[in-house]
Amino acid sequence: MEKTFTLSNGVTIPSVGYGTYKVIDASAADIVRTALECGYRHLDTARIYGNEKEVGEGMQMSSVPRNEIFLTSKVWKTHLSYDDALRSVEESLKDLQTDYLDLCLLHWPMPEGDHAHWQQRDLAAWQALERLYEEKVVHAIGVSNFLPHHLMPLLAKANIKPMVDQLEIHPGYCQPYAMSFCQKEGIQVEAWSPLGRTRVLEEPLLLELAEKYGKSPAQICLRFALDNGVLPLPKSASLERMKANLDVFDFRLSPEDISRIFTMAQTGWSNQHPDTF
Ligand SMILES: NC(=O)c1ccc[n+]([C@@H]2O[C@H](COP(=O)([O-])OP(=O)(O)OC[C@H]3O[C@@H](n4cnc5c(N)ncnc54)[C@H](OP(=O)(O)O)[C@@H]3O)[C@@H](O)[C@H]2O)c1
Repeated sequence: MEKTFTLSNGVTIPSVGYGTYKVIDASAADIVRTALECGYRHLDTARIYGNEKEVGEGMQMSSVPRNEIFLTSKVWKTHLSYDDALRSVEESLKDLQTDYLDLCLLHWPMPEGDHAHWQQRDLAAWQALERLYEEKVVHAIGVSNFLPHHLMPLLAKANIKPMVDQLEIHPGYCQPYAMSFCQKEGIQVEAWSPLGRTRVLEEPLLLELAEKYGKSPAQICLRFALDNGVLPLPKSASLERMKANLDVFDFRLSPEDISRIFTMAQTGWSNQHPDTF
């Protein structure tokens, strides 16, 4: 089964990533080390998470060499200009104690404040990522929370097409229109909050499918992403749940069950939408 996906530029990316949002307390570096040592080879952080130092420390503490880790960070919406985006990546690299990122994303399409000029601001920040890509400081570039109407103006002017779009995707909030748009454009979709930050884990359909497949509701959520070619980024601070979230490569959901998840009543949404401020 798919242990990696291949991005449009040929870069391979481990098909389950470890999400580090809120991995921030005193034990954060240790948690990141534990995630690497229990098998994760893909870490997802962001400038705004305020944990890049701890993620960097966790990578240093682990026995896993840097070149076996796929590391993503993101440029926050306060930094959507050419110079600010360059500065943001420079600061990320310093905190993460590395000289390259495997993937760098624009975190949200709307800049803080200046909403009227979002298209120009996105393009300027994107051009900074294009430069860093050409200089091999970042090995792949992409976006996050960009819906098709945010991607279209960028695709029209970009020299390099985004390789990834990271979106909120989980049972109860699948964003099939955005998912299918990206997939037709060859943009790898990643799922943030793939477990709906636990809000969906007691849903009767997920409990029923968990029983049917002999897996947990969380594992059903992760398999749902993978069975749709979407790369999930589950976060867990517990070793047991970290391991469980990697144990999703010995079953597949049937087409009927995938359809039931896609069409279940909407639930578990984070309340975060790129067009609301
Ligand atoms: N691009 C964006 O705008 C954006 C936004 C949000 C998140 N993200 C990324 O996506 C990652 C994941 O999203 P998320 O952290 O919001 O939510 P999530 O991964 O959907 O859910 C995390 C929650 O689920 C619990 N959990 C983990 N595994 C479990 C399991 N097997 N069974 C039961 N509960 C389990 C965790 O608790 P324990 O820790 O106690 O296990 C935690 O409370 C983030 O860490 C971040 O990297 C990106």
